[in-house]
This record gives sequence, structure tokens and C-alpha cells, in this order.
Amino acid sequence: MERPIIEVKKLVRKFGELTAVNDVSFAVNRGEIFSFLGPNGAGKSTTIKILTTLLRPTAGEVRVNGFNAVSEQDNVRHSFGIVFQDPSLDDELTAWENMEFHGVLYGVPKDTRRKRIEELMNFVELWDRKDDLVKNFSGGMKRRLEIARGLLHHPRVLFFRRTNSRTRSANAQSYLELHPKPQQNRGDHNIFHHPLHGGGGTRIEQGCNHRPR
Ligand SMILES: Nc1ncnc2c1ncn2[C@@H]1O[C@H](COP(=O)(O)OP(=O)(O)OP(=O)(O)O)[C@@H](O)[C@H]1O
Ligand SMILES: [Mg+2]
Repeated sequence: MERPIIEVKKLVRKFGELTAVNDVSFAVNRGEIFSFLGPNGAGKSTTIKILTTLLRPTAGEVRVNGFNAVSEQDNVRHSFGIVFQDPSLDDELTAWENMEFHGVLYGVPKDTRRKRIEELMNFVELWDRKDDLVKNFSGGMKRRLEIARGLLHHPRVLFFRRTNSRTRSANAQSYLELHPKPQQNRGDHNIFHHPLHGGGGTRIEQGCNHRPR
């Protein structure tokens, strides 16, 4: 069987005396949309920081796209894209410039880059606004642009932190909601969706192919 795109085994993270993540294990298969839910302080952000190489685990093993999040950090970083909780676009640049900047940063070759930017901006229905400054975009439009940007360097996993109803592009919406097997020609991105705080339960819960709320 194919190896899961994300593998978390017996993950523990301590901050001094406090155990923020206590023996968490899960796996996400290729093509799967995975929601990671749990009450405040359950350790969701800490787990995602470890998956995205911003924090080291105290114990356990974490792999993204087959790469170890401690010993193969660069490979892990090139394997994922991320849409942050708060917009992280440059307001003073146009939508196209924001995309271009990200592409250069990730070393996407020029020919592929231009084509890919057009394809993705069409996908999130923003191509006709490509020369507008991002500061004039609505919240939902910024979110859509961030999704396009997060997919630019062909990541295998897209971390998506807390979506909301403002993501209104028909394409982006369907992509983020119920697309357990994204279209072949869009590659095989996975979405690791980290949507909510609060919401009952006493431990981290996981749900596969949940409809984001
Ligand atoms: N850098 C840190 N230093 C010390 N304690 C921390 C640190 N980061 C997180 N913690 C603690 O670890 C626990 C888990 O925090 P975390 O941010 O992972 O929770 P969360 O599930 O994302 O919660 P929320 O739903 O509120 O965002 C909390 O008790 C928090 O105070
Ligand atoms: Mg959090």
C-alpha cells in the first residue's frame, strides 16, 4: 500500500513541565482532506508547528511526504504550502506580484512560473483582477489568492488554517470542501485543514474528509 503523505507516530511535545501534545498518532493518505479538531489548548497548533518544521518534537516521529520533519527539514518545507490564519499577503503589491514573489522565493523556474500563476489565478477566479493592489481586495478575495499562492510551488500537502465562509470562489470552495480525490491534472495535493478552536471533547479528535465548517 502507498505510504501516507503525513505520518505522525506517538508524538509528544513538552514545554517544561507542560505536556502540550501527549502521544498523538495519525496518518493522512494521499488525496485525502483531513480535519484536525479539538478544544482550546489541545495541542493542534503545536502539532502543526512540528509538521511544518517550526518546532521540534520532544519524542515521536513525524513525516511529511516521506521526509522526516527533524532530519530532512528542507525537503519537508518544499513539500507543503500553507494558508495562514491571518492574511500574509503584501497589501502594497498587486495580486500578480504577490504570486510572482512567492514563486521566485520557492525557486519555481520562470517559464513554469508564469503559466502556473495564470492557471492558479484562473482557478480561484482572480485572473481578471491580477493587476489590482491586494489592499483593495475583499477578505474572501485575499483568502482565495492565498490558496492560489499556497499551491504555486506544487506542494504535496496544503495546510489550511481555519477556513471560513468567506472563501467564496466556486472552484476554491469545492476544492476545499469535498474533494477527497483532487483532479488528476491538479496534482495530488493534500489538504490538512485546521479549522476550529473550541467545540467540545477532551482530546484532539481527527476526522477525514469532513466538510469544513
Ligand atoms: N511556546 C510555548 N511555550 C509554553 N507553552 C506553550 C507554548 N506553545 C503552546 N503552549 C501550551 O501548549 C498547550 C497547547 O497549545 P496549542 O497552541 O497547541 O493549542 P491549540 O490546540 O492550538 O489551541 P487553540 O484551539 O486555542 O488554538 C497549551 O497549554 C499552551 O499554553
Ligand atoms: Mg491553535
